[in-house]
Amino acid sequence: MNERRSSIVLGLIAGAAGVLVVLGATGLIIVYTGAYNVAATEEHAAVTRWAFDTTFHHSVERRAATFVPPDGLTPTAGAAAYKAMCQHCHAGPGVEQAEWASGMRPRPPHLMEAAADWELSEVFWLVRHGVKMSGMPAFGPTHDDETIWRIAAFVKELPAMTPERYASLGGSQAQ
Ligand code: HEC
Repeated sequence: MNERRSSIVLGLIAGAAGVLVVLGATGLIIVYTGAYNVAATEEHAAVTRWAFDTTFHHSVERRAATFVPPDGLTPTAGAAAYKAMCQHCHAGPGVEQAEWASGMRPRPPHLMEAAADWELSEVFWLVRHGVKMSGMPAFGPTHDDETIWRIAAFVKELPAMTPERYASLGGSQAQ
């Protein structure tokens, strides 16, 4: 009886090791043969997109929770910075993204819609740290937290903002 049990256990261990070897070999084949197409002219496969999006959302949610916005944030104070550093990728009310941004994969979303999916602290975290392998830059290394909070607060205003109001904010450096 005992012998039978230990041979079942050994069989299971050998089976699991076999599966790991096959998975590892498949991974190495993909890495070394060029089988995976990195071209941005191809859309992501549904499974790749799902894996990226789900990892992305949970990762941001988990890390942003510890950041608390400062008191007295004036959202419109972030308008000029948004227009100078974000609009060409993410568009704005009444303003399209730059033509080349539509060639990115993932394509930068219009924040007039996407901003509603994120908490203020999550937008702050996204701008401060960026997103690896996506084209979303980290602004933390070059901008202080105060500036980033102002931009994040402005982003959270975008879904409710009219094109006229958007155009009136941010001064002359805005394009
Ligand atoms: C060079 C293009 C580029 C620039 C510049 C850029 N972003 Fe992004 N951003 C991206 C891309 C690409 C993503 C990831 C989209 C995805 O994975 O769906 C992204 C994602 C985001 C997201 C998450 C939205 C979502 O639902 O995916 C926010 C919020 C964001 N960016 C804010 C900003 C802000 C604010 C600025 C300016 C300070 C900025 N970005 C500048 C390309 C850019």
